Amino acid sequence: MIAVKAGADPALSADAARPPRAARPEAKEHRMATLAAAARPRYAVPVRWLHWLGFILVALAYLFIELKGYVPKGTPLREALKQYHFWAGLGVLLLLLPRVWARARHGTPPITPTPAGWMELLGRLTHLALYLFLLVQPLLGLVVLQLDGGSVNFPGGLALPSFLAAPNHELAHDFEEIHETLGEIFYWVIGLHIAAALWHHFVSRDDTLKRML
Ligand code: HEM
Ligand code: HEM
Repeated sequence: MIAVKAGADPALSADAARPPRAARPEAKEHRMATLAAAARPRYAVPVRWLHWLGFILVALAYLFIELKGYVPKGTPLREALKQYHFWAGLGVLLLLLPRVWARARHGTPPITPTPAGWMELLGRLTHLALYLFLLVQPLLGLVVLQLDGGSVNFPGGLALPSFLAAPNHELAHDFEEIHETLGEIFYWVIGLHIAAALWHHFVSRDDTLKRML
């Protein structure tokens, strides 16, 4: 067996001469960065979860109703896609109350470095518009459906009860136009919101997006 004497090898003796890892400046820097990342202000856990769950449900609501357009009329698949659209949309509505409650309880963490005033204002207005959309769009959809005499059906033969006295197809048509137009407008608003999140992250390099992850 070969015994290695620490002092004999210059490389080994250099290593032995190094200060302990904890005392090295780069290790200290690394530790500070880790601590800073852990202490980084973020949205509270329920706010983050409800945001991403909400995103998935809105995306699914759009996806199912768009897919419906490619499926021949009168087929069971087309009817199923419509029902999935209703379920996803109603899910959005269901999540809204706990989401607003969580947001009111936990508040918004500050952005570092602080963005310009106009940018913060634009963000706030966009968020307000998004919250209104999450409330109004599913309600409008429900009104359209029930005015048209349709229903939301769940597995096991369950159906959502109708909240309206009697169908009114003409009114259903008018509300449907509003529901569709709002849906189109919010493709753009959601697009702007996503673009802003990415811009903050990659161009202005602040922590806006990290606070939501
Ligand atoms: C965030 C939620 C929702 C979004 C983003 C949304 C979006 C849309 C969009 C974009 C369309 C138009 C599709 C097209 O151009 O043909 C549509 C149609 C429709 N939506 Fe929604 N919707 C939502 C929730 C709901 C809910 C909760 C209901 C009912 C329970 C509903 C009922 C309908 C109905 C009945 C139509 C017409 C479907 C057809 O053409 O037969 N929507 N929705
Ligand atoms: C259906 C799509 C989406 C909707 C409806 C939506 C809605 C919202 C709402 C209402 C807020 C405000 C939160 C608060 O109360 O302060 C918010 C914040 C945020 N969202 Fe979304 N979001 C969507 C998709 C996305 C996506 C895909 C991203 C990332 C690429 C994203 C990134 C963010 C970020 C970073 C914030 C924090 C912004 C800030 O505090 O200034 N969102 N979102």
